[in-house]
Amino acid sequence: MEDGRQRAWDAAGAAAAAQVEDGMRVGLGTGRAAAAGIRALGRRVADGLRCTGVPTSRASDALARELGIPLGRLRGPLDLAFDGADAVDPRGLVVKGAGGALVRERIVADAARRFLVLVDGPKIVRSLDEWGVLPLAVVPFAAGRVLEELADLGARRRPGRSDDGLVIVDADVPPGADWEAVAARAGGLAGVVDHGLFRVPLGDVLVGRPDGGCAPAG
Ligand code: A5P
Repeated sequence: MEDGRQRAWDAAGAAAAAQVEDGMRVGLGTGRAAAAGIRALGRRVADGLRCTGVPTSRASDALARELGIPLGRLRGPLDLAFDGADAVDPRGLVVKGAGGALVRERIVADAARRFLVLVDGPKIVRSLDEWGVLPLAVVPFAAGRVLEELADLGARRRPGRSDDGLVIVDADVPPGADWEAVAARAGGLAGVVDHGLFRVPLGDVLVGRPDGGCAPAG
């Protein structure tokens, strides 16, 4: 991985962790940018900040434990959550799920009063077509049928299962297609638990830079 991208994710992660206040309950996302946020939060906890994290994957759970961040269950609202993304468009449509954790990520984002998306510049796209892939989380029993139903989108199954035992299916969204319509169609199939299309205010998308700076996308 390029050092510049890591520095940009670290900058976004530090900006997110800086928004955590004493006593907050915080959703902890999954992936490289989210891990940067968890590491930055771990440094603040080591300096005396009190907070409780709710991780969205086994990997984030393990990292937070290693750093001494107290963890809790998802009960009641979260004050804040932060997570990465694969692509963000100018309307605030966001694709997530390259890491396969999209179901818990949606739950935590939904539970959070504020949901911060941590990215670097290359993930800010003019159109989600530049990314092109919509992940789906599917109940294993339904996976074969979902693949058939979405054959026109080149739907294919990833190896292995998600932390929740689900099959992750990737579907190609045709260039120029309405991503929300495609997500609604795919997400409406029986056995599809969720899709990876989110919408967030651009002001809550934190774009880190290799020089260590960070600014909202809008
Ligand atoms: C995990 O399922 C994903 O939604 C990640 O948050 C997303 O893929 C971004 O990951 P990186 O920060 O590793 O690129």
